[in-house]
Amino acid sequence: MVKKTQVGLIFGGNSSEYEVSIVSGHNIYNAIDKDKFDVHPIWITNDGYFADEKESFKVLKDPKYQVKNPHKVTNISNLIELANLPEIDIFFPIVHGNLGEDGSLQGLFRILDKPFVGDDILAAAVTMDKEFTKILAQRVGVPVADWIAVKRRDYDDKNSDKLNYDKVAEKLGKDMFVKPSNQGSSVGVSHVTNADEYKKALDEAFKYDDKVLVEETVPGTEVETAVLGNDNPIVSGVGQIINAAGSWYSYENKYDDNSTSKLQIPAELPNRIVEKVRSNALKVYQATECSGMARIDSMLTPDGKVVLTEVNALPGFTNISMYPKLFEAAGIPYTELITRLIEAGQARYDHKKTLLHKHD
Ligand SMILES: Nc1ncnc2c1ncn2[C@@H]1O[C@H](COP(=O)(O)OP(=O)(O)O)[C@@H](O)[C@H]1O
Ligand SMILES: [Mg+2]
Repeated sequence: MVKKTQVGLIFGGNSSEYEVSIVSGHNIYNAIDKDKFDVHPIWITNDGYFADEKESFKVLKDPKYQVKNPHKVTNISNLIELANLPEIDIFFPIVHGNLGEDGSLQGLFRILDKPFVGDDILAAAVTMDKEFTKILAQRVGVPVADWIAVKRRDYDDKNSDKLNYDKVAEKLGKDMFVKPSNQGSSVGVSHVTNADEYKKALDEAFKYDDKVLVEETVPGTEVETAVLGNDNPIVSGVGQIINAAGSWYSYENKYDDNSTSKLQIPAELPNRIVEKVRSNALKVYQATECSGMARIDSMLTPDGKVVLTEVNALPGFTNISMYPKLFEAAGIPYTELITRLIEAGQARYDHKKTLLHKHD
């Protein structure tokens, strides 16, 4: 009998997307091909601690399970604890937001010399920062919303032109979005149309980050596409998010049961538009040096322009999330998608082993 691959499934984490991550982990655990893989759950609690395998299993099997006193370890010993799991062949981190998605966990895996699923350090870090993503997209000719970056020092300087709504509106128009450069789930994001809202929006966004982007509002609907693989990635079809008139894809519209936003998979769009969304996505995936996976989100304007919004290195991965759904529509069911992601992580690791590291 072929030995099964031992997968360390890491889920949870201390970001705003904690709950989504728990559900993603739970769904992956249920769907993973049990003939090929054994799962070792590694749960990161909401306050940022790793829990042991016994507790992790309870949460994985029942996302509502509340552990009273999880076995807590401090951050530095997390490193040691993970290193003490010699049976793990590959890590599958499904931790959204900071640490899981910004290259930190990926750096830890590299230090541990273990393969892992999803993007490597550079792509994770770059795509976590919406400004760097935009700069790289522009380099390969993919349109992005015009923007300014407001740094903490600008925010502290009460005379900065960047805090002056009328001055900023001269460049970006009166209708703008204000967002932390490094965040997710629409947390800290505001739509503003006047000076008062602009001030409040900056205050809100600076709670989450030291760099805030102010963007021109791009009118239209939102389109998303999923990419899978390393050197020759495959691009799914296109999904569309249809927001109610005058509304946008806010935290409530993403996660509340009475959300007015609807997902349409695949999108009902002319082929020409679908192909533009897909080819932009591939360009951005390659420009940001993604490997493994990413979901690429854009706005589609009424005149047919496709404008990049952001790249998600670790998209929502519940079985009703856009990323798996797009591949399901493309003929790759959830279970097979999980297998392919694990294989891509392993292939990248094996390839890196063939590179020479000579310093003499
Ligand atoms: N420039 C923009 N024009 C129009 N809508 C925007 C713009 N930027 C953000 N939005 C809206 O805000 C939502 C969240 O912004 P996004 O940049 O995707 O941040 P997050 O990482 O939190 O998802 C988008 O899905 C979209 O509805
Ligand atoms: Mg988004």
